[in-house]
Amino acid sequence: MEQTLLKMAEEAKKNLEEAKSLEEVNEIRVRYLGKKGELTRILRGMGDLSPEQRPRVGQVANEVRRILEAEITVRTAQIKEKIKQARLIEEKIDVTLPGTKFAIGHLHPLTRVRRQIENIFLGLGFEIAEGPEVELDYYNFEALNIPKDHPARDMQDTFFISGEILLRTHTSPVQVRTMERMVPRIPVKIIAPGKVYRRDDDATHSPMFHQVEGLVIDTRITFGDLKGVLQTFAAEMFGPSTRTRFRPSFFPFTEPSAEVDISCVMCGGRGCRVCSYSGWLEILGCGSVHPRVLEMSGYNSEEVTGFAFGMGIERIALLKYGIDDLRLFFDNDLRFLEQF
Ligand code: DAH
Repeated sequence: MEQTLLKMAEEAKKNLEEAKSLEEVNEIRVRYLGKKGELTRILRGMGDLSPEQRPRVGQVANEVRRILEAEITVRTAQIKEKIKQARLIEEKIDVTLPGTKFAIGHLHPLTRVRRQIENIFLGLGFEIAEGPEVELDYYNFEALNIPKDHPARDMQDTFFISGEILLRTHTSPVQVRTMERMVPRIPVKIIAPGKVYRRDDDATHSPMFHQVEGLVIDTRITFGDLKGVLQTFAAEMFGPSTRTRFRPSFFPFTEPSAEVDISCVMCGGRGCRVCSYSGWLEILGCGSVHPRVLEMSGYNSEEVTGFAFGMGIERIALLKYGIDDLRLFFDNDLRFLEQF
């Protein structure tokens, strides 16, 4: 019996040495140590042995089992290591290949332009103010010297929520809110970017669009200061060779009022399709703050003066990027947005 066991151990060892795969090693384990394995059978058959033989054979059988188990562990580790080494040699990783690209978003062109405008005015010492989009008639019209029956109300087709509450048609109400907050302190030097709403919808008008308001109040502020600030803005925004032109206009909240044109960004002023062969592009409205507007918000118009301006962000963006349809900004078509 001992002889059989030792012979079996030898045979199993030899088989293990020849095994090339983990599957083969497992087959060998099953063949000898499995439930119906050869060694298991011998151990089960111990009861048939004589009491003198039993301890000796049991000892040898257990020893053989321990040896086989150890051999299997060693062989398994060897084969695993071999597989790993083979893979290290075979597998060639080209570290110069470009990595996986992650699609990350970017800012909407209108956000970029708004931030550019903000940065230019921040550089000129302005602060950023905000006001509500749902506004009172008083701030949107009344306090800007546009009384209830004033024909200037027709210029801005308004979404009303109730008799006195509306969606602001321009950012100018932030002028009034800022003055009320600041009075009687000077200087006031703010811009107010934000959304505005009008009942308008075509290639050049959207019912929701964006404006940036500007307001400066101090002693001895003149129309000359206004011209200087806006010329600086135009040059920063559209390039140093950009010229500005001030045309007389009318706004109820400024006196005098003007509309500002810049020399055409496309042709430099020679005349082209973009500027309708005029050489000029209108970019904003502005003026000296009407004394009545200052007084209504508590400032003494004998002591301080000011200027204000308002521009459309979409319009600035259209001109800067040479886009001809405003609706592109709101379609969320990636073919358009990805170009910025
Ligand atoms: N609020 C005017 C509009 O939406 C634009 C404007 C014109 C604003 C003149 C001003 C200004 O502050 O002084 O049409």
